[in-house]
Amino acid sequence: MGPTNGVASIGQPAGTTIMNQISRIDSAIPLDARHPDAQTVTAVKHFTDRLFSFRVTRPKSLRFRSGEFAMIGLDQPGGKPLLRAYSIASPSWDDELEFYSIKVPDGPLTSKLQTIEPGDDVIVRPKPTGTLVLDALLPGKRLWLIATGTGIAPFGSLIRDPELYQRFDEVILTHTCRTLPELDYGASLVANLADDPLVGADAWGRLRYYPTTTRQESRYTGRITDLLKSGKAFADLGVAQLGREDRVMICGSMALNLEVKAICEAAGLAEGSNASPGGYVLEKAFVG
Ligand code: A2P
Repeated sequence: MGPTNGVASIGQPAGTTIMNQISRIDSAIPLDARHPDAQTVTAVKHFTDRLFSFRVTRPKSLRFRSGEFAMIGLDQPGGKPLLRAYSIASPSWDDELEFYSIKVPDGPLTSKLQTIEPGDDVIVRPKPTGTLVLDALLPGKRLWLIATGTGIAPFGSLIRDPELYQRFDEVILTHTCRTLPELDYGASLVANLADDPLVGADAWGRLRYYPTTTRQESRYTGRITDLLKSGKAFADLGVAQLGREDRVMICGSMALNLEVKAICEAAGLAEGSNASPGGYVLEKAFVG
């Protein structure tokens, strides 16, 4: 038998058969080779037919600042992994990572990602980044965290960061969704803060939550943009209109981001970045 393929011909020592050689090479390359950035899903929770959260093991080398996002996704046999930016919703001290996602029926990634179960693999690139971080904001007294839909995710991490309460006296978290069930994920993040051993005492009375719905009547009905422009949000919360002393973090759709950006600039705030801290920062929530 001649060397019919490259594998069998590699440095075959005298006296070994080709079959011996192949089996030794095969045992060194597992047939089901795992992607080097694969992490294991530990929990999945579906909130509505459009929204779910999941937790994965954390890469040992992964460090992040609250508010940052990572590239995550699924390996595709025979192809390049399908990756998207996802804000990390869990606190930076957590052994696991939590993400909050929309389900897009024909979305290339989320149509598949929504079917994951504990034990499955999800790829997590261990280099988070982003501008929705405390370092990108100048000091201030009151911080507004303005989210729509899955844009609440990075704030899940930030509201559990003790530094948030060292830097700001008051934090107002607004979340606008279509319906009340879509607010559940954010509402449970806020409710669980009371029992948080690290920030529970700091958050008490200083973190204020302003949930609004647009397609179902609720205590606060309407888009946050309209509620800010009409002044109703300020009246409901009993605080002054947005001003130069306030700081704002924005996370939602592109349209939301642009509208709140304009509101911030009209209030005299300038956009901040990691290199040059400012009055407000924004990040586009993952959408498809
Ligand atoms: P609406 O119901 O009026 O579209 P989605 O689920 O589509 O991601 O939207 C999440 C929430 O964000 C919805 O309540 C939606 O309101 C609201 N929203 C969408 N675009 C804007 C915008 N430009 N400004 C404020 N809120 C917005």
